[in-house]
Amino acid sequence: MNVDTYPYMGFNVPVDLMWQTGLGPDSFAAISAAHFAQLKKWTPIKSDHSVLEVGCGIGRDAIPLTNLLQTGRYLGIDVLKASIEWCTTAITAKCPNFSFLHMDVRSSLYNPAGAVEPTQVRIPLADRSVDRIFLFSVFTHMLRPDIENYLSEFKRLLNSGGLVYATSFIYDDEILVAARRNSASTPWSLTFAYQHEPGCRLNDQNVPLHAVAFTREAWREMVGRSGLMLREFLPGKWSGYYQQYEDGQDAVVLAAC
Ligand SMILES: C[S@@+](CC[C@H](N)C(=O)[O-])C[C@H]1O[C@@H](n2cnc3c(N)ncnc32)[C@H](O)[C@@H]1O
Repeated sequence: MNVDTYPYMGFNVPVDLMWQTGLGPDSFAAISAAHFAQLKKWTPIKSDHSVLEVGCGIGRDAIPLTNLLQTGRYLGIDVLKASIEWCTTAITAKCPNFSFLHMDVRSSLYNPAGAVEPTQVRIPLADRSVDRIFLFSVFTHMLRPDIENYLSEFKRLLNSGGLVYATSFIYDDEILVAARRNSASTPWSLTFAYQHEPGCRLNDQNVPLHAVAFTREAWREMVGRSGLMLREFLPGKWSGYYQQYEDGQDAVVLAAC
């Protein structure tokens, strides 16, 4: 089979798998660079760190990390088997301290036949063995009980000084007004018209996990229950509400207590 590939930092990334994570070659490098800049600014990674990425997709953020993590190690997990297989064949082959694991977790959007409920996921790493955890555009496709389970896993895995960077859509009444006013003129076109439960709204009732948004209060509750500490809410560009923003989506920075 002839698969189109996109050359990125010495890797030939399959374009068909790239599209499964939402976007294609036109934006791949720019988004990767923007993510890396955010990690550098908010959760700096050292060359000997132990790093976990949840929802690593086709390695958009693992690839630039291969230049940084020298003696440290990286584990990327995802529910998309073909992406994990490519990452293993291409990235682990060149960088043995990078490993990738397919977890057959159910997601109505990405893996509807998955055998493991997202509320039951256990990440196969030792307690207090991880320095940094990041998720780009992953909690934007999960509901509250699933996020809470991942947060409790992060609490178990992080060592002292450990940090989490996770993007999210975060709303209040004013942000919703701006998002609806600007939806035709932003690439995201999100309105979050449907209330799913208090503090949580969906963009598309028929495809609930297409985009999920939370209030700051919902985030405070979820993080409070996990035992982690909420360090920062970072504004994103998606709604058009903020004049100054960090990246496309909003984000939270969490710390091990
Ligand atoms: C929008 S894509 C983003 C991929 C990658 N983070 C990036 O920025 O290129 C969302 C990713 O999260 C993964 N995902 C969804 N639910 C997941 C879950 N419960 N556990 C792990 N990964 C999940 C999807 O398979 C997909 O690769």
